[in-house]
Amino acid sequence: MVPRNTAAPADAGVPRHAGVSRALGDAVERPRPLAQKNTAALRGLATRSGSGKYPGTTSRPGGTMPKETVTITDHRTGKSYELPITDGTIRATDLRQIKVDDQDFGLMTYDPGFMNTSSCRSAITYIDGDKGVLRYRGYPVDQLAENATYLEVAYLLINGELPTQSELDEFTHNITHHTFVHENVRTFIDGFRYDAHPMGMLVATVGALSTFYPEAKHVMDHEIRRTQMIRLIAKMPTLAAWSYRHSMGMPFVYPSNELSYTENFLYMMKRIAEPKFEVHPEIVRALDVLFILHADHEQNCSTNVMRGVGSSRADPYVAVAAAAAALYGPLHGGANEAVLRMLREIGSVNNVPAFIKEVKSGVGGRLMGFGHRVYKNYDPRARVIKRLADQVFDIVGKKSPLLGVALELERIALSDDYFVSRKLYPNVDFYSGLIYEALRIPVDMFPVLFAIPRTSGWLAQWEELLLDKEQKIARPRQIYTGYGERKLVPMSERKRSSITAEAVKSSPSETD
Ligand code: ACO
Repeated sequence: MVPRNTAAPADAGVPRHAGVSRALGDAVERPRPLAQKNTAALRGLATRSGSGKYPGTTSRPGGTMPKETVTITDHRTGKSYELPITDGTIRATDLRQIKVDDQDFGLMTYDPGFMNTSSCRSAITYIDGDKGVLRYRGYPVDQLAENATYLEVAYLLINGELPTQSELDEFTHNITHHTFVHENVRTFIDGFRYDAHPMGMLVATVGALSTFYPEAKHVMDHEIRRTQMIRLIAKMPTLAAWSYRHSMGMPFVYPSNELSYTENFLYMMKRIAEPKFEVHPEIVRALDVLFILHADHEQNCSTNVMRGVGSSRADPYVAVAAAAAALYGPLHGGANEAVLRMLREIGSVNNVPAFIKEVKSGVGGRLMGFGHRVYKNYDPRARVIKRLADQVFDIVGKKSPLLGVALELERIALSDDYFVSRKLYPNVDFYSGLIYEALRIPVDMFPVLFAIPRTSGWLAQWEELLLDKEQKIARPRQIYTGYGERKLVPMSERKRSSITAEAVKSSPSETD
């Protein structure tokens, strides 16, 4: 990758900045549209489609394979650089050699929100957002939802393979025997205000577990790491249920070893004084399926936080607390809560057209539960959840009055050009809230119900990060836009700043 000193063509049409063109060697590659290239890059592991060995290319009889490189010509200096392409991706650090002079830091990429940046290699979850495909370790999520339990899926995510019966029995036994928390956690939860949001309590208590297991900081020790992973998956339902009980002003219910993972959670949340607490098995199964659908979703906002915190080798309790905090936001896992509030606000089918009009004009905020950074097609999880919602409504014996509002919103949005042209489809959160509502779970608990199953995904991603030799502490670069060096002004000479007023004026609305 030594720069080749090729003179830039004196083409008046070429802008005077770094340009990109593919190095084709002596072979000619059919140009692919940019969007198609980007999709291949996002896929990372580049499924080898077509007859050629290289993604997006075909071998020609008697011809030479195109070189998997890209040539960048820096028109500021006239130098060209040949960079390798691996899995449809170039390494951002390869750009650093592109400099105007020795003092230059080198070319960087600017990618707010990681719109086109792979931050890791991962073998856990595969998404094809254009086709609406979601697979955990190669298994389509709808097949897992149909045939597996949440604990099987958690095992799969963490270990890479589905368990045999004896492996599952051992895993289930370990999880079941780690569901209790230290009694001090109980007093800790008791200390929250009566109206504390359960998600705030969950974030705080799961982070506090770090202080109960100081050995957890030895994150590179396999045995220690695995013990904490079991503890976290096991204790999340207990913390979640207790946060709920506290917000309801009800006594805490201790875990029951006789019950399955999901049933035990419902038991700790809902038991009052029944001699024998029973939940309809179909309801337990419905919640288990929801857990499966929420278990992982590759490099989303909270997983990125989990990996970011994990990259400093912090213990998994504080990393899960940080990831759960990211999940809490209304643009991520807090969206299911926001969807239900939105449906209640709309109130009736008659108000839907006016609401859609407001969304489109930009004054009414977003249509919550619609749109996704990756899915530009129907979210495959939303499809399963919509079916599940009908089953749950049949069992509880009544449909939510908000279902009509949701169906009408979906009908209009799927035919309205604003949503169609932006490829905004219902996401996982659009219908899940209606199921939780039918189960008489308050909206505040919705993001908590997301955090419980996502813990296995976070932990699988966290361990993958720790074992990946290419990973380093997460530390992005910035483009500095502030002042150059200034002389400090004494207090007596300072003037009132207009910055605050400017910031208020330019702040985006809540869900922008
Ligand atoms: N309602 C109305 N318009 C929308 C919506 C929506 N839900 N989502 C995106 N848009 C519009 C944007 O205004 C923008 O329009 P423009 O091109 O005219 O400016 C365009 O679609 C693209 O939107 P972006 O914000 O650039 O898309 P991005 O990929 O950054 O955002 C996100 C994805 C955050 C999920 C977004 O679609 C959204 O806010 N949805 C509502 C919240 C939600 O349901 N979140 C849950 C996601 S699933 C999960 O996290 C588990």
